Formats: sequence, structure tokens, C-alpha cells
Amino acid sequence: MTDYRVNVQAEGRHAYDIVIKDHFYGLLEELPRLSCQTRKVCIVTDKKVASIYLQEVFELVQGLCGALKVFVFEEGEARKNLDTVSRLYEFLIRNHYDRKDLLLALGGGVTGDLTGFAAATYLRGIDFIQVPTSLLSQVDSSIGGKTGVDFQGHKNMVGAFYMPKLVYINISTLTTLSDREYRSGLGEVIKHGLIRDADYYRWILDNRAGILSRDPETMAHMVEGSVRIKKEVVEEDPREQGIRALLNYGHTFGHAIEKEMNFALTHGECVGIGSVLATALSAARGLISMEEYEQIRQLFQSLNFPDLPDSLSEDQVIKEMKHDKKMEQGIISFILLNRIGQAGIFRDVTEEEMRRFIEGSLARHKVPRYISFVDSFPMNAAGKILKYKMREEAARDLGLSDQ
Ligand SMILES: NC(=O)c1ccc[n+]([C@@H]2O[C@H](COP(=O)([O-])OP(=O)(O)OC[C@H]3O[C@@H](n4cnc5c(N)ncnc54)[C@H](O)[C@@H]3O)[C@@H](O)[C@H]2O)c1
Ligand SMILES: [Zn+2]
Repeated sequence: MTDYRVNVQAEGRHAYDIVIKDHFYGLLEELPRLSCQTRKVCIVTDKKVASIYLQEVFELVQGLCGALKVFVFEEGEARKNLDTVSRLYEFLIRNHYDRKDLLLALGGGVTGDLTGFAAATYLRGIDFIQVPTSLLSQVDSSIGGKTGVDFQGHKNMVGAFYMPKLVYINISTLTTLSDREYRSGLGEVIKHGLIRDADYYRWILDNRAGILSRDPETMAHMVEGSVRIKKEVVEEDPREQGIRALLNYGHTFGHAIEKEMNFALTHGECVGIGSVLATALSAARGLISMEEYEQIRQLFQSLNFPDLPDSLSEDQVIKEMKHDKKMEQGIISFILLNRIGQAGIFRDVTEEEMRRFIEGSLARHKVPRYISFVDSFPMNAAGKILKYKMREEAARDLGLSDQ
């Protein structure tokens, strides 16, 4: 039985609770606390999530509020735009929603981001609740008050910082996620451990099997741990002026790959690939050891993250990074690991270093494949020497050796 509650503070005051359960009926307790009896509620959800969870949530919420309507849109990132928001505004106006009413986002990060943005702007702001159903939205996007939509191909270009009144997580929804969407969330989960909490990272390493098989207890522990880390970071830096930037670990590479692959890979898969690369760069700079890099790479591999796509070239990745707002005057502001469990912002990574690093390792895809090929050698005495030598050579080739 999962039952976890944590409070998010903003500017020294109680902002909202995050509740983690393994069912929806805890909403019966939570909604009255928000005085829903006298308010109209509008559930905002996408078609896919609606087909699985809408009926149950609708029946629960119906008896708890003044009136209840549902706004459903087609699922997918392509719908996270001002058109959908505009249709939602129209729907709310047509149904006479006013400032004391409430939106309930039921779904993944797309639903949460766009509902939050509509809530922030409709009548200069009405309340909203997050009921995240994807792993990524449970451990990441529903927490911290970043809302927004994409605009003319630019991701999250229009948005607002706007906090929900409640985040209600039902981890049992994770069982209906596709493997890819589940993995997408795992990219952020591992990132949280790497940047902030070595014990949590080690727990992930030791519990790979339960994570992959979606064992309920393991998932509950995983979501609680990740939620705690994200909550602490956003409390320290609500408007991303400092430490919150650490959450972008793996994202500079990740975004470049995501864009170059034309979104054929999920965001979290790209974050996974990007995290392995950022870890390789940390190792290349001697911040962490080669063994630590290997362990992290193997962790992602064992959770079925894809390798760097064959079709990418270093020029493409560099081009995308240059477009990225994180690059100024040839210097990339980059998040690297000082050690496992502690990331830092490095403002001294030059385009030249990045190009050398990418040319030497990434685009040739040798970082993962070459080293694992060498590692698969049999371990007799001669094999051991050969393996050691080849491994060293490979590491040198890739600019990863410790010397
Ligand atoms: N606001 C933030 O701080 C923040 C942080 C990270 C990411 N994001 C945003 O989050 C979005 C990605 O979130 P996402 O990965 O949840 O995308 P998503 O909302 O598109 O969900 C992914 C897919 O899974 C489906 N789905 C959701 N829950 C399900 C369930 N329980 N069972 C079966 N299918 C389910 C959805 O219908 C969708 O097809 C991006 O737009 C990204 O920009 C925001
Ligand atoms: Zn992310």
C-alpha cells in the first residue's frame, strides 16, 4: 500500500502537497480539502489516457464538486500548442467557468504543461491540479510549476511559472504505459540520482530487475525518491536562476539528438543517451573515473536505452547545440558530474573541446560498442592482458583515459 505525502514550499510558505498512492480514490479525501463542493471542475485529458482512466476519475470527482465537464484532445507533443489552449479557453467560456473554478490535468507531461498554462492565463489565473499518469510527468513535469506550450516548432517557447494546488500521483497508472514511455521516464529518474543523490543512484543500480518488471513496491520507492529530489531542487531555486539548471543534465546533448532525429526517439530516451555522453565528458575531463562511466553506461544499457543513432554526425549535433540557448560566444554552459550524486555547472566547455570530444567518440558510436565488445572477451590470463590493453587503447582513442 503506497501512501506518501510531501509538501512543497515556495518563498518560505506551504505551496502544495504531492500525494503518492496506488489508486485514484484518495481523491475522495483530497478534493474536499480544496473546497471542490462549491466549485466547477474541468478534467483536461488526452484521448489515449481518457480511454483508460477517464471513467474512473470522472465517477470519483463527479460527486465531489459543484459541476464537472471534460475536455479531451488528441494525444501527443504536436498538440501541445496554442490551438489546443485556445479550444480549451473556448470550452471554459462556453461552460461559464469563472475564477473560483478548477482544472484537473489527467495525463502525461503534455496534458500537465498545457493545462497548467491555460490555468495560469484563463481569467488571469484559476486553480489547477496535476494528476500525472506517465512516469515522466510523475517524477518530473508535474512538480515545480513550469507550464507552457510549443510555438511554431520551438519547444516550450510560451509559458508561465504557475503552481498547481495539488499533485496527485497514482503509481498504478504506470502499468499501462508502453515500454518506450516508461523508459522515457527512467531517463529522468537516473538523472536525478546522478546529479543529486548517490544513495538513490545505487538503489537504482541494485533494483534494475524490479524497475524493469514494474514491481509495484519498487516503482513506489523509485517515484518517491525521484519526487523528493525534484522537490528539493525546485524549492531551492523555483525560477531556475541557479541550481535548478542541474536538472538539465544530459539535456544539451539530448535536445540536439531529439531534434536531429526529428523526434523519432522519445525525450527521455534522448536524455538517456545525452546523460551517457555527459558522463563520458565528465570522465574525459577526469572528474569521474572510467569505471564509474562504464557502470553508468551499462545501467542505461541494461534498462534498454538505445545507443547513439547511427545516422547522426558530429556536425549535426554541434549545429543543434549552437542553436541551443545554452551556447554563448563559443562557450557552452554544460552540466557535468563532479562525482556520482553531485553535478555542477561548467562554463568553460569550448566549442573546440566539444568538437574534439564528439569527433573522437560520439559520432563514431564507439563509446558504448567498442568497449563492450572488448569487455566481452574471455577472461583467461592472455585474454586478461589483451582485454586490459585494448580497453586502455579504446579509452585513449575516445579521449576517456584517466591520465
Ligand atoms: N513542466 C516541466 O517542468 C516539464 C519537465 C519535463 C518535461 N516536460 C514536458 O513533458 C512532456 C513529455 O511528457 P510525457 O512523456 O508524459 O508525454 P505525454 O503527455 O505525451 O505522454 C506520453 C504518451 O503516453 C500516454 N500516456 C500517459 N499516461 C499513460 C498511461 N498511464 N498509460 C498509457 N498511456 C499513457 C499519453 O497519451 C502519450 O501518448 C513534454 O512536452 C515536455 O516538454 C515538462
Ligand atoms: Zn527532461
